[in-house]
Amino acid sequence: MPRPEPERVTLAALPTPLVRLERLGRHLGDVQIWMKRDDLTGLELSGNKVRKLEYVVEDALAKGCDTLVTEGTCQSNHCRATAAVCARLGMQAVLLLRPEATVEPQGNHLLDVLFGARTHFYPQERFENDRKAIVDTVLAELMENGRKPRWIPMGASEPLGCWGYIRAMVELADQLGRVGVDACDVIVPVSSGGTYAGALLGTMLHRLEGLCVWGVPVSDDVAHHTREVGGLCRQAAKQFALPVEFADAHMRFLDGYVGEGYAMPYAAAIEAIRLLARMEGIILDPVYTAKAFCALLDGCRDGRFGRERPVVFIHTGGIFSDFASSQTLLGDE
Ligand SMILES: Cc1ncc(COP(=O)(O)O)c(C=O)c1O
Repeated sequence: MPRPEPERVTLAALPTPLVRLERLGRHLGDVQIWMKRDDLTGLELSGNKVRKLEYVVEDALAKGCDTLVTEGTCQSNHCRATAAVCARLGMQAVLLLRPEATVEPQGNHLLDVLFGARTHFYPQERFENDRKAIVDTVLAELMENGRKPRWIPMGASEPLGCWGYIRAMVELADQLGRVGVDACDVIVPVSSGGTYAGALLGTMLHRLEGLCVWGVPVSDDVAHHTREVGGLCRQAAKQFALPVEFADAHMRFLDGYVGEGYAMPYAAAIEAIRLLARMEGIILDPVYTAKAFCALLDGCRDGRFGRERPVVFIHTGGIFSDFASSQTLLGDE
């Protein structure tokens, strides 16, 4: 028997708006582009993370935990969202960040501090080599001090977190139905993988056959994301006894948008930020959404997306890292 949807704590402002990008569509030659504004999930613009955290935090609360421990870079949207959730619920956030901040807190990290998170910094290489030992030590120290911590993996991309986008797909399909769209392409950025894994499982579980979901890797190569997203889908399907037959062939990646690496924006991504800002008054971020939006723009320009059927971009948030990248974004303006 499939298990029911797990309980969740209500944190996000849902449903997020689905809006048509009219001016951009006309600019690109009469293409139909929609945007699911998951940057507006609330909790100080927590983006895609808060949908996953609703389930993970419910699990933590049910187990009597009072502290959430997680990891990321200093500009991690996930760490900032976890810090915001902890402040909202009266829990303690402990963030394992890297590399060491060399300037005063900016962007997401400024908010980590304002939300009252406790932060530990590590050099990137040391953290990668000793991840398990570091995490175990932090958890043990917290327990020695009487806290009940729950570890949350990077991006809350664990099987339970996948429910955030399983549910989001139902919400999206419902909104699309109301505006008369029953078949479309849907584009999401992919990094730790939980968003895309949830979106794929959501379309399979709820038989949303009209939604063709594409993932755009923004941090690693397709082989890596195939392993990670595929692994998450299989684990979630098993853990929750989902009646889906997942196969690697269900994943569709739009490759070629990572650039030189994670959090290293390139000229086309910066151009995409400026274009959307000026055409629609909507802000992308330089790490995730701008790169994924480049895939949408290329597809609209070469006729793959938005002509025969609409294309929907899931805006997963991330605005605060714009404020930590002003020099890159402004260039020679
Ligand atoms: C703004 C934003 N968009 C997209 C992603 C990618 O989502 P996921 O990590 O679930 O693949 C992230 C997080 O990594 C993010 O912070």
